[in-house]
Amino acid sequence: MNILDAIRDRQSIRSFKKEPIEREIIEKILNFAKFAPSGGNTQPWKVYVLNSEIMENLEKAVLDNIDNGVSEKPNFNIYPQPMSDHLKERVKECGKLMYGALKIEKDDIEGRLDQLKRNFSFFGAPIGMIITVEKEVDLNGWGHVGHFIQNICLASMEFGLGTCLQESWSMYPETVKNTLQFNDSEILWCGIALGYPDDTHPINNYRTSREEVNKFTKFF
Ligand SMILES: Cc1cc2nc3c(=O)[nH]c(=O)nc-3n(C[C@H](O)[C@H](O)[C@H](O)COP(=O)(O)O)c2cc1C
Repeated sequence: MNILDAIRDRQSIRSFKKEPIEREIIEKILNFAKFAPSGGNTQPWKVYVLNSEIMENLEKAVLDNIDNGVSEKPNFNIYPQPMSDHLKERVKECGKLMYGALKIEKDDIEGRLDQLKRNFSFFGAPIGMIITVEKEVDLNGWGHVGHFIQNICLASMEFGLGTCLQESWSMYPETVKNTLQFNDSEILWCGIALGYPDDTHPINNYRTSREEVNKFTKFF
């Protein structure tokens, strides 16, 4: 697949076929993703590739939290607080497209909650990954991990696979840490749902918009 096509055509996939993914393919994807650049080549990322048993345990633990009104302190603000109007507009458009595709109305709180909960089954993907960052790195290091996770998304496409990055997991950092037993030196960033896209599902059949280059670029 051409690099430019992959960058343009990547989209978040939130419905997957049941088809399993061979471990060899996942290893290949990670073997390409690892070539991401990082300052001083620090490579401050860790990946946890979950089997179905751990995915089920995680889902159950998080859904129990939600159903029992248990909340945890996220490691970062998922959205800015407060959020400026131009960012709010983009978030609003993004929600409108997704809920619109699912025919979930604005005031359908339960429908929206059900969709949020689907994050915690990795949207039915056969593979879920959890990404952590070495706690000691500063803001720039999170950026380096960003290159790595984008590489996972793009490399997956070469194998016909789709992805959805999921910071929703950061709503329950302690539950994820307790289930995966990762080291205190790591901090949870996000999950990645990985699988063969269900192309017939409406949630995979819309595209989010992007600003024009002249809106975010200044040429000197
Ligand atoms: C770090 C990161 C975390 C994200 N977390 C979630 C998430 O928890 N749930 C979700 O449905 N989408 C999540 N997304 C997907 C974004 O909503 C999506 O990338 C954005 O709307 C642009 O759409 P596109 O990916 O289809 O181009 C996340 C994206 C990124 C980069």
